[in-house]
Amino acid sequence: MKIIVTGGAGFIGSNFIFHMLGEHPDYRIICLDKLTYAGNLSTLESVMDNPNFRFVKADICDKAAVEKLFEEETPDIVVNFAAESHVDRSIENPQIFLETNIIGTSVLMDACRKYGIKRYHQVSTDEVYGDLPLDRPDLFFTETTPIHTSSPYSSSKAGADLLVLAYYRTFGLPVTISRCSNNYGPYHFPEKLIPLMIANCLNDKPLPVYGEGLNVRDWLYVEDHCRAIDLIIHNGRVGEVYNVGGHNEMKNIDIVKLICEYLGKPESLIVHVEDRKGHDMRYAIDPTKIHNELGWLPETKFADGIKKTIDWYLANREWWENIISGDYQNYYENMYSKRVSEGTK
Ligand code: NAD
Ligand code: DAU
Repeated sequence: MKIIVTGGAGFIGSNFIFHMLGEHPDYRIICLDKLTYAGNLSTLESVMDNPNFRFVKADICDKAAVEKLFEEETPDIVVNFAAESHVDRSIENPQIFLETNIIGTSVLMDACRKYGIKRYHQVSTDEVYGDLPLDRPDLFFTETTPIHTSSPYSSSKAGADLLVLAYYRTFGLPVTISRCSNNYGPYHFPEKLIPLMIANCLNDKPLPVYGEGLNVRDWLYVEDHCRAIDLIIHNGRVGEVYNVGGHNEMKNIDIVKLICEYLGKPESLIVHVEDRKGHDMRYAIDPTKIHNELGWLPETKFADGIKKTIDWYLANREWWENIISGDYQNYYENMYSKRVSEGTK
């Protein structure tokens, strides 16, 4: 089996590559990644010499480069993780989100049509469903919840999902889609909540909580997401959407306090800053379908996963310090300096 994994130098894609090479040692895995600010080749260092692994630096929007790779590798499956993934960046600059997340998806699927493929899998997100109110804990996202997006990021992901389903209906392309909740774990880029708070805590820097920090996210350990995708590409029904989540809802502020406690840092580091525009209140996945059809259940409890994650950041300081010492400084300055001065508390 040959699998092209796009976006494999990023957070979830790299964890998926490690998972697949570990679980299916006879598979050939080809990673196609543009190495944007979020892609990091050092993340893949441990598999670079594996004879069943190949890395190719290319843009999923580059039709010629994508077709060349399909001609060389004749893949059986494509799993598309490549995306601009950060909501805050999409609010600053939506354009690149439309290009990579929508046009890139169409370029990949056109190549799949041209060269033939057993499965095209789109890694989507629970954000396509919009958000849920805090005072209705009985409500969850199911696969039939209407698409109702809030940010340029989630709108671009929803656009891609609709295109994927259209390629199934119109061209008969054998597709599947997974819509997962918030992931956490090793190699998570430090612009996102959990790794940002860990890195800032370790550097005794302020911990910028948007608004009051009451927004709820449904956290899943990244390996559980990777296992879900592995199951879907092998046993999932073509043309279907599968929600992935572990019923682990947490308020942002509680996560930040938990990180402080584990690292022995004072909660006085917490600063409430200007809220995200259009900030989704609550995400909560109903994973009944993937459980009933494919037997998937999350294996890592949040209490264990968060400790494993913090310990990983403690043991791999060089990985994230290299990131936050480069261009990321400019991003941080630009994104947070105005927020802090306009903070709510
Ligand atoms: P990430 O930002 O960490 O990684 C994205 C990767 O894609 C990077 O390696 C980057 O270099 C690459 N990339 C970006 N543009 C590209 C292009 N045009 N061509 C080729 N490669 C390109 O993202 P992530 O958090 O690992 O998310 C991966 C996927 O999972 C995304 O599609 C995201 O929407 C989805 N998702 C993420 C989460 C989460 O909590 N992080 C949850 C659900 C779904
Ligand atoms: O739900 C899945 C989505 O989860 C994925 O599709 C996205 O790619 C991924 O980035 C993530 O989106 P979120 O916006 O939920 O994640 P983020 O880590 O950016 O923020 C989580 C929550 O924490 C959110 O309510 C905003 C808040 N936050 C975030 C940052 C970076 C803060 O309070 N302070 C911060 O500095």
